[in-house]
Amino acid sequence: MKGFAGVRAGTMMSLWLMAAATAYAQSAPQSDVPDHRVMEKLARARNCMTCHATDRTLLAPSYRDIAKRYAGQPGATEELTRSISDGSQGKWGKIPMPAGLQLAPGEANDLARWILGMVPGRRP
Ligand code: HEC
Repeated sequence: MKGFAGVRAGTMMSLWLMAAATAYAQSAPQSDVPDHRVMEKLARARNCMTCHATDRTLLAPSYRDIAKRYAGQPGATEELTRSISDGSQGKWGKIPMPAGLQLAPGEANDLARWILGMVPGRRP
């Protein structure tokens, strides 16, 4: 029973990765976007919301604008994951995003998928 569950989880994971790699923003099912309330709490806890808001441009671009810009782009999840863990500059304006926001492993990727899920029509 245990072995079966393990194989199943592995298959699900590779299916998910394939979906994410091909056409994440357009055709991935809603369930690939991490739970909105959980993620918003995490973003708050990691101080992302000091500079970012979901719908308004503050010091930093809004998450919805980021989602729009990267919608349908292959590799968007990876690119945003990298920006979230290593910082970013020169893509949106003059203000850089600092690195070293003290994220646990996997959190940058979760946050990237959450943000990319914010394109219009895919609101959780
Ligand atoms: C000190 C302010 C600040 C904090 C804190 C901050 N950001 Fe940013 N963020 C920015 C700015 C400014 C930009 C635009 C950078 C640029 O022009 O490249 C940005 C850009 C981004 C981008 C787009 C990057 C790209 O490659 O286009 C994402 C995604 C993002 N932030 C997510 C986050 C997340 C998630 C957190 C929390 C872990 C966070 N930010 C914390 C200021 C901040």
